[in-house]
Formats: sequence, C-alpha cells, structure tokens
Amino acid sequence: MNIRISNSIDDLIAALAEAISADIANTLKRNECFNIALAGGETPRSLYQHLAESYRDSIPWGKINFFWSDERWVPHDQPESNYRMAKETLLDHVQIDSGRVFPVPTEIDDPTSAARAYEIQLKTHFNSEWPHFDLMLLGLGRDCHVASLFPGSDALRESKRWVVPSISKIPPVQRLTLTLPAINGSAKIYFLVAGIEKAVAISSALSSKPIPVEDCPARGVNPSNGEVVWWIDNMAAALAISIRDSSKS
Ligand code: 6PG
Repeated sequence: MNIRISNSIDDLIAALAEAISADIANTLKRNECFNIALAGGETPRSLYQHLAESYRDSIPWGKINFFWSDERWVPHDQPESNYRMAKETLLDHVQIDSGRVFPVPTEIDDPTSAARAYEIQLKTHFNSEWPHFDLMLLGLGRDCHVASLFPGSDALRESKRWVVPSISKIPPVQRLTLTLPAINGSAKIYFLVAGIEKAVAISSALSSKPIPVEDCPARGVNPSNGEVVWWIDNMAAALAISIRDSSKS
C-alpha cells in the first residue's frame, strides 16, 4: 500500500501534480500518447486548476487522451457534470487535442445505451480485454464509494461489462461508472482524498481488517498489474493511526 500524506491540501495537490507530470513524461518516452481517466466530484477541482496553471507549458497536453471514471446522468453543460468540471478547470486552459477528449455520452436517450456506447468507445480505443489506462484518478466518497460504485451495488459484482449505469443515494441519482475490472486494468491508480469528513472512509479503505468490498467499494481497487497510490492530507488520515506517522511526505 503506497500512501503519501501531506500536511495541507495545497502541499497534497502540488505533490500529486508533480507525480502526474513525471508519469506523463515517462510514459511518452515509450508511447505516443497518454491515457488518463479523470475523477469527478469536488476534490480534484484544485488539482486540475493547479495543473492548468503550473504545467500549462511543460505537459504535452495534445498527446493526452482524456476519459472519465464515472459521470452523472446530466447534460455536459450542467454544474453537476464531471466533464464540465474538468473542462472549466483544465481542458479549456491547456492545448489539448479535442479529438482526444472522450466524455461519457450523456446525450444518449437512456443510461444503459450510454453505458454501452462508452464501453464500445473504450473497446475501440484500447482494443484489449480490459481498458489499460496509464493513469486512473479516483476520489473517495464518505461511504467509501469509488467512481460511482456505491456500497451494496450490484455493479460491484460486474465481471464482464466495462461501463454500467449506477444509482447514487446522493443526487444526481443516476450515474454511469467504470466497473472494478475496468478500473483495475490501469497501470497506475491515484486516489486523491482530503478533509476530515473522509477520515472514517480512509480508515476503512486502508484498514488491515477484512472489510468486504460490498461495504467499502474502494477496497475493490486492486490492479492486477498496476500500482495504487493514496494521496491524502493529514485530516483525511486523522483516524488511520497506523498510517499517520509511517508515510509522511
Ligand atoms: C463523482 C465522483 C465520486 C467522487 C467522490 C468524492 O462523480 O462524484 O466520481 O466518486 O470522487 O464522491 O467526491 P468529492 O471529491 O466531491 O468529495
């Protein structure tokens, strides 16, 4: 378990952005593009803003393929849209290749058809048994959900589909999400978690006790050939005593 604890959200964002920049540079030494799945929610907002401000000229944004780990079932111009959040904070501020941006198609008639359409788009892009993102960014819900995989959801047991509809207890209720096997095909998975309100979820997610994935979906993130790094601030780490002093950065 690779855990990086920072004393403030600003330090956390700066360290994570630097790691992402290095990952992109390293991957582009051997590949012509970099495949990233962006996280939604509020926490990544400051990361994307920092990347746009401090790495505008140093990251070759035109070589990055942008996907999303999940999306709310709303039009892309709605405030709740994860695509809109990334567009406002990052994509509109750096030299991307618009042909390399793949939002979840929430304009399609129904969530199941949209999930199938996104899955086809991913399969066409990756042309492999499972998607192989160079980097998957994820947040953590207070209930230990990851992407839009919520505790008790049937989607947690999905073993064939790459993208499925899901239902959230917190609005927007209808979501679309990558499944655990689709997430676990990633080469690197970075969790970004900050704030005291996430301390209980972090302590469950990182606990040595055998907490079921059903209760804590984040524990289902376990890439077969990839690395997971938890980027957390000291507030989110507050209850996870065993890790608080062992991985300070
Ligand atoms: C979403 C996210 C979701 C998010 C967590 C944490 O669509 O909301 O994908 O999984 O990462 O809910 O959200 P916050 O960063 O807003 O706390």
